[in-house]
Amino acid sequence: MPRKILVTSALPYANGSIHLGHLVEYIQTDIWVRFQNMRGHSCLYCCADDTHGTPIMLRAEKEGITPEQLIDRVWHEHKRDFDGFHIQFDNYYSTNSAETRHYADTIYTRLRDAGLIEVRAIEQFYDPVKAMFLPDRFIKGECPKCHAKDQYGDSCESCGAAYQPTDLIDPYSAVSGAAPVRKQSDHYFFKLSDPRCADFLKGWIVPPQVQAEAANKLNEWLSGGLSDWDISRDAPYFGFEIPDENGNPTGKYYYVWLDAPIGYMGSFRNYCDRHGLNFDDYWKPDSEAEVYHFIGKDILYFHALFWPADCTTPASARPPACSATAS
Ligand code: 2FM
Ligand code: ZN
Repeated sequence: MPRKILVTSALPYANGSIHLGHLVEYIQTDIWVRFQNMRGHSCLYCCADDTHGTPIMLRAEKEGITPEQLIDRVWHEHKRDFDGFHIQFDNYYSTNSAETRHYADTIYTRLRDAGLIEVRAIEQFYDPVKAMFLPDRFIKGECPKCHAKDQYGDSCESCGAAYQPTDLIDPYSAVSGAAPVRKQSDHYFFKLSDPRCADFLKGWIVPPQVQAEAANKLNEWLSGGLSDWDISRDAPYFGFEIPDENGNPTGKYYYVWLDAPIGYMGSFRNYCDRHGLNFDDYWKPDSEAEVYHFIGKDILYFHALFWPADCTTPASARPPACSATAS
């Protein structure tokens, strides 16, 4: 009996070149896809550039172009390199697409309507010269442990210590060089700590959904308790703006890791529309199709905790509003 299979591999960021590390993943995925098709199954392979976030916004600014111009140029470079290595994607798309925005808004509003989004004020470092909040990697300073200079806000490259940006001695903004100030703003949190998420994940984190080795690691994280996940970022940010209850702009943007896996859906939806396939045949919880995400273990947390919790939780385990399917 031929199987209906959809395969994705981790979406490369649109601010850097494809390197050998990427190719290891894409080539092995490509081999698996070809193998399944040779066995007589229908196996589709979709991917996209991961286009949102502060680094892409700042890189475009540095080059004196718009983020849209940057991601368009990089998309062509990535596509050229993948073609050069004979990676046969059925669709190579972009997360900065109408389809990805549609599914991001659908998933977000269903989570919100199910009571799984909470707004909370948090305090972060802010660059008063650039008038922007600074992600950890854009704050530098002296390591609080070994006193090496010019270390990043999350860890020291000299002694390996991990810390909070607020622990740095004499912190400065890697964007403008200014001393950052602490500033509060409202952020949107996905309530992963809600028992509905852990209850669902406990049942989901088992083979064949994940490999046994991955299940061990995931259960370790799960037994430590899940923390709520900050899914919003303040302007200026290159991404999709989060809508309020009336569909009006909130001035907050989805964090890049919220819409990146949704880009798998966006790419596949774009393929479906061009080839007359029904998206729901693959993504509905009770569908007979199989969806496989090929990833590196460094992004297991995002794919096997956040992603199933915010997207594929079956209606039986969560309010019906939570299951993400095409409208
Ligand atoms: O780690 C990375 O390179 C990310 N761009 C992978 C995203 S995979 C998926 F979630 F989009
Ligand atoms: Zn150090």
